[in-house]
Amino acid sequence: MEIIIQPSAEAATSIAARIVARLLREKPDAVLGLATGSTPLLLYRELVALKLDWRKVTTFNLDEYVGLPREHAQSYHSFMWENLFRHVNVAKKNVHIPDGNTKDIPKFCAKYEKQIKAAGGIDLQVLGIGTDGHIGFNEPTSSLASRTRIKTLTERTRKDNARFFGSEAQVPHHVITMGIGTIMEARQNLLLAFGSTKARAIAEAVEGPITAVNPASILQMHPVTKLCLDEAAAAQLKRADYYRWVYGNKPDWQKF
Ligand code: GLP
Repeated sequence: MEIIIQPSAEAATSIAARIVARLLREKPDAVLGLATGSTPLLLYRELVALKLDWRKVTTFNLDEYVGLPREHAQSYHSFMWENLFRHVNVAKKNVHIPDGNTKDIPKFCAKYEKQIKAAGGIDLQVLGIGTDGHIGFNEPTSSLASRTRIKTLTERTRKDNARFFGSEAQVPHHVITMGIGTIMEARQNLLLAFGSTKARAIAEAVEGPITAVNPASILQMHPVTKLCLDEAAAAQLKRADYYRWVYGNKPDWQKF
């Protein structure tokens, strides 16, 4: 894991945007895994401003609510088109977001996995993190080997996401999410976390044991994972000074 701590969410996002932009310039037909939530909003804004060429890019989103109409303002379809896709020249046929209204969820999930494989696998997966350590919607105790499937949200996540819906009662209970095994197959993971509400989940994911109770902790087993954090999200890391020194003293060839 590479831990990059920056003074602000904006500074951490700029680094993440540089990493994504470099990939799209070096590999115009890259396969991107994308995330939703408030955290990647700044990243998407920066990527739009960079005016990159998305014509050959393929995207796979991590997750979607089950049963929420696609046009609902809080569906992840709406989120992605509103905040990224409609502002770039991505081909609609290359955009993949789980279908929360499919009639046959297991069949859809198996197909989603096949589509990722057929696209050549995910080159870079953007991740946020839940306050309980979830990645995608893989809630605590999710199998660390899980594939795309239906999951039931915890009360905590439904409370966290109630801010987008107006009330907790309106937050769906079920979601379709890429599995942890799916995320672990991405060639690179880029996790962003900002704010003090994420500090505990980040400290446990980075410096705690690998455990399904904090699904993000499995990223310790991933060979190329970068975390872009602001100071508040990094506040409970015991080795923060070490991570800062490492990042500040990278050899030129390792800089991005
Ligand atoms: C959401 C998403 C995750 C996201 C997380 C944090 O429910 N399914 O992909 O990383 O919870 O959300 P936020 O960035 O709004 O804090």
